[in-house]
Amino acid sequence: MTTTPAANPYAAGCAWIEGEFVPIGEARIPILDTGFTRSDLTYDVAAVWKRQFFRLDDHLERLERSCQTLRLQLPKPRAEIRDLMVECVRRGGFDESFVEVVVTRGIPVPGERDPRTATQRLYVYAVPYVWIVKPELQQHGVDVIIAQETIRIPTDAVDPRVKNFHWADLTRGLFEAYDRGATLALMTDGRGNITEGAGFNIFAVRQDGSLITAKDGVLEGITRRTVIEIARADGREVHVGDLRVDDLVDASEVFLTSTAGGVMPVATVDGVRPHDECPGPVTRLLRDRYWDLHADSEHTFNVDV
Ligand SMILES: Cc1ncc(COP(=O)(O)O)c(C=O)c1O
Repeated sequence: MTTTPAANPYAAGCAWIEGEFVPIGEARIPILDTGFTRSDLTYDVAAVWKRQFFRLDDHLERLERSCQTLRLQLPKPRAEIRDLMVECVRRGGFDESFVEVVVTRGIPVPGERDPRTATQRLYVYAVPYVWIVKPELQQHGVDVIIAQETIRIPTDAVDPRVKNFHWADLTRGLFEAYDRGATLALMTDGRGNITEGAGFNIFAVRQDGSLITAKDGVLEGITRRTVIEIARADGREVHVGDLRVDDLVDASEVFLTSTAGGVMPVATVDGVRPHDECPGPVTRLLRDRYWDLHADSEHTFNVDV
């Protein structure tokens, strides 16, 4: 008689909450957590590709910096958080995974609103890999708009270098994109500078083959950093400064970068095609090298070791 193995309860995702691993569908946060009621938190997301964690230490370093900026403590030593992330992936049995760690200000003392009285909380979870632009769509590129109805939240209000859940502007941008027949929105700062979009940084390739991406008003993406390093190693000039709307109009290629999707080619910006061929040659090269690095031991480690 053959027996079928019990289904893995973590197959849809594994979360670590309050000292326990639970299937993702059973993961709960307390309703009084100020992460929920005030968006008072920071988080980070790393990816696993073919069982290799990519640049996890860089993600954890960014998380720690974000905590410091928000006057939060890293709730556990970095090595322990790292182990929890790895264990969530192992339990899920994922070859490709999207692994998130959230640090919230937590729950204040009853009757108090003073954030200093709150007890911080840590949440960790792994789910199957998430794509902002699915691989099928990446073959032809994604249609984007430059949002007109909403600007990116001002940096003096919310520091974009701290990864955050203040997504009302980004989500509004997405709905504007859908209304205008596109898939994603590029947000400006309201002064003609392109910043970022819902979960991604933005690059333009200039006619001379150099790259330009925004310096300010953006999360300093790990994928953005990786692409800058690849491009410079390839002898390309990379300008990190103001990315003007005109730079996109004049660009020969435009692409987006994120842990959730890698290097994602843009087919049209406001209905205009920057390059006849999409993905263009520079985007293709950077995208191939980016994924090749996921097997490079300098940036990766195997979750099973
Ligand atoms: C607002 C924003 N910008 C950019 C990015 C890209 O950052 P990374 O390459 O580290 O995933 C993200 C990632 O989620 C993001 O949320």
